[in-house]
Amino acid sequence: MNFENFHIIKHPLIEHKLTYIREKHTSKKEFKELVDEVALLMAYEITKDFSLQEIEISTPICKTKSKVVSGKKVVLVPILRAGLGMVDGILKLIPSARVGHIGLYRDEKTLKPVSYYFKIPSNCEDREFILVDPMLATGGSAVAAADMLKKAGAKNIKFMCLIAAPEGVEKFCKAHPDVKVYAAGLDEKLNEHGYIVPGLGDAGDRLFGTK
Ligand code: URA
Repeated sequence: MNFENFHIIKHPLIEHKLTYIREKHTSKKEFKELVDEVALLMAYEITKDFSLQEIEISTPICKTKSKVVSGKKVVLVPILRAGLGMVDGILKLIPSARVGHIGLYRDEKTLKPVSYYFKIPSNCEDREFILVDPMLATGGSAVAAADMLKKAGAKNIKFMCLIAAPEGVEKFCKAHPDVKVYAAGLDEKLNEHGYIVPGLGDAGDRLFGTK
C-alpha cells in the first residue's frame, strides 16, 4: 500500500509468530503469549527513533558517561477490548509507560464508533502515544481513537496493529497522515462480516476465550 505513513515491520521472528497467531488450533494461552511477543518485537522496532541523552553514572570501576532515552513519556493506549492483549508485551520493553484506555462500540443504526470510555494521562502535548489494536479492519475505531487523542491534545501518535486490511489502511492513513501506522502483516481484504481475510478471526474472542 502506497501511504507514506504505513509501515510493515518485517522480521523473521515476527512472521513466524504471526503464523501461529493466525492458526486456529493455537490455544488461548499460546495466542496471548504470541501476541505479547509480537507486540514487544514491534515496539522494539517502532521506538528506534527515540532520542538519547548522555548522563553521568558510576560503574563499580569508575565514573563514566552513558546514554539513556531522553524525556519521552510514553503512553500506551489500547482500544478496548482486543487492544488490551498487546499491552503486557510492550510494558515488558517500556515498563515506565503509562497506560490509557479508549472504549468504543459501534452504533447499530449509524454504524459509527461511539465512545463509552476515555482515560489518558494529563500533559498530552509532551507525550509519545502508542495506540494499539491488533486488527486494523474497517479503520473506523482506529480513526475515532486517534481523533479523540488529538482532541485531548496529543501531538505525537503512532498506531500499532498486528494485521491490517487494505480498507483500514486507506481509511486511517487518509484521515491521519501525520500518524505512523505499523503492522506485522497486510492481508487481502475484509469479508462481508468485516473480518480480515485470511486474518486470525476475532482477536478479542481469541484473547479472552469468549467464543
Ligand atoms: N476485528 C477482529 O477481531 N478481527 C477481524 O478480522 C476484524 C476485526
